[in-house]
Amino acid sequence: AQQKATVSVLPSADSPVINKNIYGHFSEHLGRCIYGGFYVGEKSTIPNTNGVRNDIIAALKELGIPNLRWPGGCFADTYHWKDGIGPKQDRPTMVNQWWGGVTEDNSFGTHDFLDLCETLGTEPYLAANVGSGTVKEFTDWVAYVNHQGKSPMSELRKKNNRDTPWGVKIWGVGNEMWGCGGNMTPEYYANLFKQYSTFMTDWNNSDKLFRIASGANVADYHWTEVLMRDIPRNLIEGVALHSYSFVEWEKKGSSTQFDEAQYFKTMETALKMEELVTKHSEIMDKYDPAKKTALVVDEWGGWYEVEPGTNPGFLYQQNTMRDAMIAGTTLNIFNNHADRVRMANLAQTVNVLQAVILTENDKMLLTPTYHVMHMYKVHQDAKLIPVKFTSPEYKLADKSLPALSVSASEKDGKKHFSIVNIHPSQTMTVELDVKALNLKNASGRIVASGKLQDFNSFADPNKITEKEFKDFKLKNGTLTVTLPAFSVVVIEAK
Ligand code: AHR
Repeated sequence: AQQKATVSVLPSADSPVINKNIYGHFSEHLGRCIYGGFYVGEKSTIPNTNGVRNDIIAALKELGIPNLRWPGGCFADTYHWKDGIGPKQDRPTMVNQWWGGVTEDNSFGTHDFLDLCETLGTEPYLAANVGSGTVKEFTDWVAYVNHQGKSPMSELRKKNNRDTPWGVKIWGVGNEMWGCGGNMTPEYYANLFKQYSTFMTDWNNSDKLFRIASGANVADYHWTEVLMRDIPRNLIEGVALHSYSFVEWEKKGSSTQFDEAQYFKTMETALKMEELVTKHSEIMDKYDPAKKTALVVDEWGGWYEVEPGTNPGFLYQQNTMRDAMIAGTTLNIFNNHADRVRMANLAQTVNVLQAVILTENDKMLLTPTYHVMHMYKVHQDAKLIPVKFTSPEYKLADKSLPALSVSASEKDGKKHFSIVNIHPSQTMTVELDVKALNLKNASGRIVASGKLQDFNSFADPNKITEKEFKDFKLKNGTLTVTLPAFSVVVIEAK
């Protein structure tokens, strides 16, 4: 069976630019994300630059990641940055209390991370310790990485062989303060945030700091309400939100072996992002009608059981076409809410949760999620073209979800339409009324596969890749696209 949707495309001079930072990533000291993922050490036989794998560097450069969040997550509120600078052999160890209880040798620290960001051409996002730190430790870190003049922290940095500051603009003031960051109430944290934020200076960088408050867990609207009510606009640039997709939190199920009911439930939690950003934005609008403060979804993605035989604290999971569906639909939601959602970070870049890259010894593979994000990079810093349509339903038992998700943008004279069909068995035809855009020709790319459960393995790393897509027609101001079941398509037209 085939279903159809008619999409109105409504270009408007007032529509927002899709901030490229929506396409950000997250890398925590968790499992094999940093150690044994990004970082194999200078002495490794795996080709590396200052200990970071060259194949990962090349893949992330190609992906064009605009920002990278580090070092946590929950790890951030246990991290003491001074333990990760200076000669590596002198650095103290610590125990990673949240993730597997492993001993962390601090061999990957501030210099390693910020130099990596320079190599990648990506903006660093430092998530700093509030839960078990102090205002002094925090502001010393800001000074260490940002102060150009003479000061105790700039001298220390110079002693560690770095003269010029990196100029780090984006700062997270703690992480999940309602949970692993200290189990605080929003009222208590709002006061704490104001205290930290007051002492965070930009140390004469040309740009001001972008201070992000640890935000709500999923639908905790009270959290957002209190932060927006209690923190003055001049002390805050972003409010975070975390929301993961899963079958059931207590019974997450396998990342590769799932049935349709489990697929449906996962997509239900993923598509909930639409309601979450709408409702959190409505609260923010009440206190900030000028939309000065951004909503920053700095943790999102699919979360399943770890792969059999791997450390439960390492959150290593495979990545199937289900994850491609999560990525495609979630990014469309963020694009369509670009007026308020101005940054987001997929959890996590390498070997953890919905990773874009998996590694096994010297092997590396790109997941379906990588390929979706690669197709979507055309939306970075492009002007949103609002769309309106009624989606056909994807029904299962007595429930239904919208089968289609669409977003569109325009940059350098090119228009891009990203369309997702989450239906597990039905083809969908989408008719986009593009008369207003005066389009002459188009081309397409697709991520699709034979089975929803398909994934890229180390034995077959290119099973799912981005391919040319031709099942569309541009005629008399109508772009008609026919999407196979569970596929993500991006059409470029001009
Ligand atoms: O991404 C894994 C964990 O999920 C993060 O450390 C934490 O912030 C969240 O609960």
